[in-house]
Amino acid sequence: MTTRTTRPVIAGNWKMHHGPRATADFFAAFRNASEPRDDRTVVFFPPAISISGAVAAVQGRPDLLLGVQNIYWESKGAFTGEISAGMAAEAGVRFVLCGHSERRHVFGESNDDVGRKAAAAFAAGLTPVICVGETLDERRAGRLEEVLDAQIDAALEPLDADRAGAAFLAYEPVWAIGTGVNATPDDAAAAHAHLRARLRDRIAQLADQVPILYGGSVKPDNAADLLAADGVDGVLVGGASLDAAGFARIVAAGT
Ligand code: PGA
Repeated sequence: MTTRTTRPVIAGNWKMHHGPRATADFFAAFRNASEPRDDRTVVFFPPAISISGAVAAVQGRPDLLLGVQNIYWESKGAFTGEISAGMAAEAGVRFVLCGHSERRHVFGESNDDVGRKAAAAFAAGLTPVICVGETLDERRAGRLEEVLDAQIDAALEPLDADRAGAAFLAYEPVWAIGTGVNATPDDAAAAHAHLRARLRDRIAQLADQVPILYGGSVKPDNAADLLAADGVDGVLVGGASLDAAGFARIVAAGT
């Protein structure tokens, strides 16, 4: 059994799924399927257009937390299509994904951009969930640790130690995202151990309070094994978070 300093974090990244109507339907079903529990931190990342509906839908369930999938680092201005961290906080969310692999690979976000976004998140009172992970080519070339180091170093660079220690991390190998091929619990444990060691190099014992989530093809049937892997403090679930009953099973996994 893994040793954790935090409650397991079970997070659902809906990506570009579930508009306002489907969001209301999801939460109606999820609230029935999953009782409040104090041994888990449960966070949903709906599309920005669905956030106000999600905030309304989780009323009376303070155990269900919300985040946005992306922000821009400026606070306001002529940035068509973007939202700021302050706007997200005002809308009622507590978290923001920074540097998800689709942001990096589809939209060209750089390691430095991720750091700017993480800093903007903290400045607005949000907690960034900083996502890192290697491609299959990078893993095969033996570059796993080098790639993770570059990503984590750039993301933490603008943060002081207290803020770095208040961030969440998600290890999401690109080859495991949306492919149905999850990392094995051993692969996840090895990557998480490396990330924890890198964090300790940067921020000493504050590193131990940073939850490190695993993401990539987490399903109801493999969630318990992944959550039991050494150093895995939670899961970030994409496709399998869209179904209320299935996600409720993941929330309950490992108990
Ligand atoms: P997946 O996505 O669970 O569909 O593989 C995970 C993620 O992108 O966060």
